[in-house]
Amino acid sequence: MLDALVEYHRRRELPFTPPGHKQGRGTDPRVRQVLGDAVFRSDVLAVSGLDDRRSSQGILQKAQELMADAVHAENAFFSTCGSSLSVKSAMLSVAGPGEKLLVGRDAHKSVVSGLILSGVEPIWVEPQWDPERHLAHPPSAEAYARRFAEHPDARGALVTSPTPYGTCADLRAITEVCHRYGRPVIVDEAWGAHLPFHPSLPTWAMDAGADVCVTSVHKMGAGLEQGSVFHQQGDLVDPAVLKAREDLLGTTSPSVLVYAGLDGWRRQMVEHGHELLQHAVDLAAEIRDEIVQIPGLHVAGPEFVGPDRAHDLDPLQLVMDLTELGISGYRAADWLRETHRINMHVADHRRISAQLTFADDKETTDALLTALRDLSRHAPALRGAPPIYIPDPGDLRLELVVLPRDAFFGPAEQVPADQATGRVVAEMLTPYPPGIPAALPGERLTAPVVDYLRTGVAAGMVVPDAADPELNSIRVHIER
Ligand SMILES: Cc1ncc(COP(=O)(O)O)c(C=O)c1O
Repeated sequence: MLDALVEYHRRRELPFTPPGHKQGRGTDPRVRQVLGDAVFRSDVLAVSGLDDRRSSQGILQKAQELMADAVHAENAFFSTCGSSLSVKSAMLSVAGPGEKLLVGRDAHKSVVSGLILSGVEPIWVEPQWDPERHLAHPPSAEAYARRFAEHPDARGALVTSPTPYGTCADLRAITEVCHRYGRPVIVDEAWGAHLPFHPSLPTWAMDAGADVCVTSVHKMGAGLEQGSVFHQQGDLVDPAVLKAREDLLGTTSPSVLVYAGLDGWRRQMVEHGHELLQHAVDLAAEIRDEIVQIPGLHVAGPEFVGPDRAHDLDPLQLVMDLTELGISGYRAADWLRETHRINMHVADHRRISAQLTFADDKETTDALLTALRDLSRHAPALRGAPPIYIPDPGDLRLELVVLPRDAFFGPAEQVPADQATGRVVAEMLTPYPPGIPAALPGERLTAPVVDYLRTGVAAGMVVPDAADPELNSIRVHIER
């Protein structure tokens, strides 16, 4: 991609095509001043621009082949619409309207969007709940096996690993279960783009034998925002079908900048990935040792892993429990941004997390440690937030009584939140981050879940997809 861009500039190609800024000629100087000329200069049309009308140079094809080769997949497909689109493409290549798909109930909202758009019936697989720490870890292989036994007509399974908290599923065992039924497994590995490039990191889905996996290269890799790749191997998912599903959903104007970011990162990882990630893993270990010294801060480690917990943990996600400090993750994250201009990754009712990548170094981690030490000292001033009602794991689980698509597109009304209990929800209610819907279209709302969300919002939780993000009212399905 980068070589092709150099060549494009060398040939001094003159576009009478989109993008209309014509490589920055028409861009307002104030915009160029902020974004830089390079952005516009290389923002060129992919077809009839970078490559010719017939894509006869095979530039994208070659870049995708190199990516597949780098990560031990048979095929790789670049997407410029994030894993949000890639995961839908993957789901639709396995199940169609009215068909069943096993889905871990800890799936990201983009998976739920895929269910809504497609009319696929989810067969939920229960995550492994840690009732003490109020956290869901990925479902076990046994849970997938049980659901397959109950629904042998399910077309396949979807598992999220790593989760945004860095906890990982036993992908080898889950893949084995699915393949026993002759069904494919899709791994939403949005947080795992770095995994193929260092052996001490958790298992990479392609190495575990998964059929399709989806990665966000902009998350744990170094692609530009929205840069995503999905990978395929084996004969349970037809690559032509996968490509057709992506074509159905994707843009006809892919960003060459995003493609070039993906391809350049692939080269960097192939050439230097091991060394760069070794440095990141070592740095993360050092930071962990420093954080445990900070009064009141606990950094998650072995207690996340083991029987009834996660199978593995990505060491680059530093998840810190604030229970001892007596403050919520929301308050801590806001304070760190305001006071130290440090932005945290996940913030929930009791935790914050810091994502490290190979781009971090002593300078960035020292700034993080300084801020965390200061947070520990200032904790008393941050206490006293409205309490959040956290239901027991069993009470968090809602019954799906209407297909997500039917509840979302069917007749609906906005009702005061105190009248929503017992009604079927018609929207997603997703604390973001981490982005896992607490309630989704078709589920019957219960008082504990409504209370959890409403007390959460009062304490700083953000539920951006609700029609009323304050949750004074909730959109519910009108049952006939
Ligand atoms: C587990 C998971 N899957 C998919 C996505 C969507 O990825 P993207 O932001 O690249 O669209 C996210 C985003 O946070 C995620 O956490």
